[in-house]
Amino acid sequence: MASMQNKVFAIFGGASGMGLVTARFLLARGARVAVCDISADNLKQLHTSLPTDQSSHCFVQTGSVTDESAVEAFLTKTKSNFGKLNGVANYAGVPGHELGTEAIWQTSQEEYHFIMDVNVRGLFNVLTVSLRPGFLEDDSNVVHIGSMFSLQGFRNGAVYAASKHAALGMVRSAAKETGARTRVNCMLPGSIDTPMHQANLARIKDFDPAPKTAIPRDGRAGEVASVAVFLLSDESSYVTGAA
Ligand SMILES: NC(=O)c1ccc[n+]([C@@H]2O[C@H](COP(=O)([O-])OP(=O)(O)OC[C@H]3O[C@@H](n4cnc5c(N)ncnc54)[C@H](O)[C@@H]3O)[C@@H](O)[C@H]2O)c1
Repeated sequence: MASMQNKVFAIFGGASGMGLVTARFLLARGARVAVCDISADNLKQLHTSLPTDQSSHCFVQTGSVTDESAVEAFLTKTKSNFGKLNGVANYAGVPGHELGTEAIWQTSQEEYHFIMDVNVRGLFNVLTVSLRPGFLEDDSNVVHIGSMFSLQGFRNGAVYAASKHAALGMVRSAAKETGARTRVNCMLPGSIDTPMHQANLARIKDFDPAPKTAIPRDGRAGEVASVAVFLLSDESSYVTGAA
């Protein structure tokens, strides 16, 4: 695995689940990492849990990807704290309040806006700030987390699936715009054992969003974080617009 010494990364939605493990993996490999999330408690827990050599390489900030000025302030602060920015990972996402239980005709306007705001406009805000020419270092990376539902329908999860399809289209388009200066990729995992997934399991009877995955078990957060670390590293130098 490529060394991450002297690299600087910003992670949105990094206080829990796959984003949290990605932050830990990057710090363990010597990177400097800034984490933004709406959960102040989980951010605090992350920071206090780090060994001293890593906590001095990490800062956390409360903020929402839905707020473009907060996204810009966080990324700008990351650059001024650490001197540069080599990559951004966006894990901030929501399943909605009724995933798996509500057909499209039962879904409210409020629910539609809630899901699309975080999962689509949030990514738009992250990309529109990060990908301005000169904002990231040359040869930088942006990684977004879509879902297997970026490519297929989700029974009783139409808006979630739509948001993940939309995000994939945005990633693929951005990759064509940035070319070699910033690689932009999207990960599309199946069910991964995270707090979000556990909450879905607890809420929905017989929740089985992926009955026929090739590996018949839930993935672990670290199994996705390893892919993210690869995509954020110099080893992915010819990978962009991939999903
Ligand atoms: N767990 C799965 O099975 C699975 C599968 C495929 C894709 N995903 C996607 O992966 C991403 C991460 O999910 P996870 O399972 O690690 O969930 P998680 O709930 O453990 O982590 C998501 C994090 O995003 C943060 N967040 C939510 N809204 C935010 C906002 N507006 N601004 C900033 N941060 C915000 C949350 O506070 C949380 O810390 C989500 O986009 C999810 O849709 C999850």
